This record gives sequence, structure tokens and C-alpha cells, in this order.
Amino acid sequence: MGIQLKGVTKTYGSGEVTTKALNEVDLDIKAGQFIVVLGPSGSGKSTLLNVMSGLDRMDEGTIKIDDFDIHTMNEKALTLFRRHHVGFIFQQYNLLQTLTVRENVLIGARLVDKPLAVDKLLEDVGMDKHASKYPFQLSGGEQQRVSIARALVKRPKMLFCDEPTGALDEDTGKNVLGILQQLNKTYKTTILLITHNASIAKLAHRIVKMNSGNIVEVIENTPVAAKDIRWSE
Ligand SMILES: Nc1ncnc2c1ncn2[C@@H]1O[C@H](COP(=O)(O)OP(=O)(O)OP(=O)(O)O)[C@@H](O)[C@H]1O
Ligand SMILES: [Mg+2]
Repeated sequence: MGIQLKGVTKTYGSGEVTTKALNEVDLDIKAGQFIVVLGPSGSGKSTLLNVMSGLDRMDEGTIKIDDFDIHTMNEKALTLFRRHHVGFIFQQYNLLQTLTVRENVLIGARLVDKPLAVDKLLEDVGMDKHASKYPFQLSGGEQQRVSIARALVKRPKMLFCDEPTGALDEDTGKNVLGILQQLNKTYKTTILLITHNASIAKLAHRIVKMNSGNIVEVIENTPVAAKDIRWSE
């Protein structure tokens, strides 16, 4: 799915203490693109992701995702839209602690008509041997791989990732990014990934740089394979 933002503005707070988290942002993302958003802490990256995915409301502007006008949808329509078309991967894994790995992924699968096969997907993210474990029995990287499987099982047309490798070591991080890259290639999933790590930006078709609520630069890029990026630059 393609995404089009025009004049998107979001201000937090009221009265004298306000923060303009997004300042008339324009952005045009083509279906199937892998976009990486870079920028310092507080520059508006998460806010951008949240309004784009309909998790949060903006104050002004328009957001079009294919033929859907996100800004005019009511809460119920937005919830259904997210359920059917959008996957999320956050820095915190948000797994349900009382369910096993397999059950956590099954929950995602039950939301849609044509999910991916759960066991095959667990194999793809290297978690098939841990399918019966509970989240507290897993390392951070393993939990993140479960959260990725949970997002992917829905076969989302769009995937929003906020610092998905922030808590991971280099090897696990590259592994996880490789899975996202593969997904983007195989299913033409539109991916928007937020990171602080400039080397991760090399995976993208386009790199969007933010500062103080503004998009300050958009760079077209020839993607590098996840395994070939240098982690600490
Ligand atoms: N719920 C909120 N209430 C008030 N201000 C907020 C809220 N959420 C974010 N902000 C402010 O909006 C600005 C943008 O925040 P945002 O979370 O989008 O930044 P970010 O680029 O994701 O930063 P980080 O890299 O630290 O995650 C910041 O100045 C932040 O303090
Ligand atoms: Mg953030």
C-alpha cells in the first residue's frame, strides 16, 4: 500500500507548554518501498509512525493510504483497518506473558482471513524449537522474533517498526532485519522502520531524515543486504 501525507501537523500539550512534534510534514511512500526514518531523540519519528498508522490523531493535514482517508475514519473503522492491513513491531515486544510462543502468534493469525502458516513462520524466524515456551523463558532477541512473527502472520500490506532492533545485539539484529528485508521482497510489504542507527538506513529504498518535527532530507538509496551492513558507524 502507498502512503501519502500532506501538511501533517501534530502538537502535544496545551496552553503555554506545547510541543510541535510534526510541523506540516509532506511525504509520499510508494507501495512496496522499504523506508527508514532517521533522526535524533525527540525529532518526531514515533509521532510520525503513530499518526500514519492511525494509532494517534493529528491536528491538521491529510493522510491517504491507497484509497483510505485515514484522517476521516472513526475509531471503529481505524481499528478494522489496522487489524486487516497493518503490522506493528515495537522496541518493547508486547508479548502476552501467559501464552506460549505459538499461542502469541496464533492470536495474530486469528485476526485475518488468510494468515501465513504459523508453524512455517516460526521456523522462518528460527523459533520453531521454542514454540511451547513462554516469553519469560526467552532472550530479548528471541522475544523480538516472536513479535515479528506475530506481526507478519497477518500478511500485512504495511509494517510499521519503531526501533525493532534497539534492544538486540549485532547478530540477532541483523537476523531480524534480514527477515524484514525478505518479507519486503517476497510480499512487497511496504515497510517503515525507525532507527537511531545510521548504518541500518542502508537497508532502505529511501532514507527520511527528521529534525524538530520536520523532514529535513529524503535520500534515494540502493539497498544493502542486512548481513552486509556495518553495525556501528
Ligand atoms: N504524549 C506526549 N505528550 C507530550 N509531548 C509528547 C508526547 N509524545 C511525544 N511528545 C513530544 O513530542 C516530540 C516528538 O516525540 P517523538 O516521540 O515523536 O520523538 P522520537 O523522534 O520518536 O524520539 P526517540 O528517538 O527518543 O524515540 C518530543 O519533543 C516529545 O517530548
Ligand atoms: Mg520514538
